[in-house]
This record gives sequence, structure tokens and C-alpha cells, in this order.
Amino acid sequence: MAVDEARVESFVGQLAGFMTGGGVCLGMWLGDELGLYREMTGQGPISAATLATGARCNPRLTREWLDSQAAAGLIEYDGNADTYLLSDEAAVILANESAPTFMARGMNTLMAIFIDGPRIVEAFHGDGAMSWRDHDDCLFRGTEWFFRPGYRAYLTSEWIPALDGVAEQLQRGAEVADVGCGHGASAVVMAEAFPNSRVHGYDFHPPSIETAVARASEAGVADRTEFVVAGAKEYPGRYTLICFFDCLHDMGDPIGVARYAREHLEADGTVLLVEPMALDDRATNIAENPLAALLYTASSTLCTPNSLSQEVGLGLGAQAGEGRLREVFAEAGFTRFRRAAETPLNMILEARP
Ligand SMILES: C[S@@+](CC[C@H](N)C(=O)[O-])C[C@H]1O[C@@H](n2cnc3c(N)ncnc32)[C@H](O)[C@@H]1O
Repeated sequence: MAVDEARVESFVGQLAGFMTGGGVCLGMWLGDELGLYREMTGQGPISAATLATGARCNPRLTREWLDSQAAAGLIEYDGNADTYLLSDEAAVILANESAPTFMARGMNTLMAIFIDGPRIVEAFHGDGAMSWRDHDDCLFRGTEWFFRPGYRAYLTSEWIPALDGVAEQLQRGAEVADVGCGHGASAVVMAEAFPNSRVHGYDFHPPSIETAVARASEAGVADRTEFVVAGAKEYPGRYTLICFFDCLHDMGDPIGVARYAREHLEADGTVLLVEPMALDDRATNIAENPLAALLYTASSTLCTPNSLSQEVGLGLGAQAGEGRLREVFAEAGFTRFRRAAETPLNMILEARP
């Protein structure tokens, strides 16, 4: 076997980078979980001891964490003064949870994959099934905070206005269903922007529904939202807008779920489908989608196992692509399907009966 040493060396470098990235993600999770980033915000340069006292953390461990963050370039270290600085630019990513760029808490998703590793191994050795409901709580929190910045930044300012006539319908007042709503991040954003409309969030995971109720209350929109434990083919009512935010591919029977949505739409109703960005052809997606490695990882460990745990078990995957999703909606009886908007992370698709 002739091994190309230069390629091996290059792979080693690549792997060292991935491993460092994984370690830094854990450090970011700790920084958010322990309140270290929040404690540093707006403080200017501070010593390790001051940070440890303010955050009520062990001083020795805090010092080591700071050095790992400084080595990763997330925090600035001044060797002469022996102080650490969280810059304003880093704070909007790591500390300020209302900033559209806030990413630190999304690291919970990766934590969940690591914590649940042994069960995911069992799924790979067995029938591939592992329900969303059987994951560590980190997953539900991580998913909320991974997607929430995008929903807050774009959902009501760009995505809904890109749908044909939907913003006007919601401004006048309409019934909206958010199916697979999780912690209600998208439902709350819609309820805030369209006070004449009523948003109904449905999810089959009871603890997520409890959190969604609390989030709506914190945001002051409890009066125009409701959250109910229900599967994607179980919710009642008729709607002007039925939304699926980053969840249709998680369902065992996405065609049945889309068909059920069609039956629960008003005559002038619309389905808003938000799915992870993916290019249509597998080889092209693998080669050209900068998020493909991350999204296929989530797909193989979270999304597809959940789909395989449900009836039909289609296993669409988080990287199905627009063409495959169009087929799903055509099979479900929709006649119109188009991409209305996109971000590097998401495709925003509009389906009509
Ligand atoms: C990736 S999460 C997305 C959550 C939320 N829409 C968001 O964007 O933050 C997928 C969600 O689908 C829900 N889910 C999965 N299968 C479901 C089903 N058959 N019926 C209802 N909800 C389901 C899960 O509980 C989870 O909250």
C-alpha cells in the first residue's frame, strides 16, 4: 500500500483543527453555562481572580478556561497587565443573548450529541431509531438557541414578507400553526410582530411545550399564543399559515404530515417550510455547501434517527434539498412550491394547495 505522506500530514493538520474546534465549542458551552462571558461583558480588561469572584467560579479553573479562550482567539490577553478582555465584537456572539449573532448557547446541541453518544451507537447498530424525546435536555435548549437568532433576524422582516400576501393576512389577523414548534422561538417572534393574529404551537415533546409557554409569557404574548402537545398529524383547526421550522425532515412521515397540513389550510392558506440549506445533488452538496459537514452530522445523529423512530420512517435527512422537498409536497397534493428566500443556514420555501 503506497501511502502519500504529504496527504497524511495534511489530514493530521485537518484533524487537529477539528479537535481544537470541538474543544473550543466545549469551552464556549462552559462560558455560557457558567455566566463567564456575561460577567466579562462591558467590564474592560479584568483579572482572572476578579472574573472568578464575580462569576462565583473556582479561580484556578477559571484561569485555565481564560487561557484556552485566549489561545483560541475569542478573548484577548494582556501579558503585561495579566488581564483578559471580552471585546464588544465577541460579546455579541458569546454573551448578548438578544443579539442576532448570539451563538454560544447553540453549543448545547453539540453537547447533546456527545452526551447521547452511547445511545446513538446503539441506534447505528440497530434499526437506526432514536426519538427526539429520548435525548438529553441540552438538545432542546441547544436547538432553540441555534435557530432562534435567525428567526429573530429574518422571520418577520424578510421571510414572511417574501410569501405571497401572507404578511398582509397576518397584519389583518389570522390563525397560524407552528408545527414541531420546540421551545416556541419562531411562534413568539410571529406573535410579537402580528398582534392581531393568533399563533398555535404544536409539538409532541411535552417539556418543550412547557418551555414554549414560559417563553411566550416572558415575551408578553401569552394572550395571543397557545402551545399544545400534539403530533404533526394530530392538531385541530384550520389555518391561514401553517409553518414547519427546521422540523419537517425530522418527521417519520413528512408526506403524510404535509398532506395533513393541506387538509388543515384555509382556501387561501400557505405552508411556510423552513429547512436547513442543502444543494440538490448529493455530490455537489458535499463539495460546495460550507455547512454540509455540520448538518450531515446533525442529520445522522439526531434528525434521521428521530424520523426512523416514527411511523413510515422515511428518513428524509436534514440535507434533502429543495428538489426532494418539492416532491414531498407534490405527493401530498400541493400544486405550487417555490423558494421564497434563503440564508446561508436555511431555505425558506412556500407551498400552496
Ligand atoms: C429540530 S427541532 C426544531 C424545533 C423548532 N421548530 C425550532 O426551530 O427551534 C424538531 C422538533 O420537531 C419535533 N417533532 C419531531 N417529530 C415530531 C412529530 N412527529 N410531531 C410533532 N413534533 C415533532 C421535536 O420535538 C422538535 O421540537
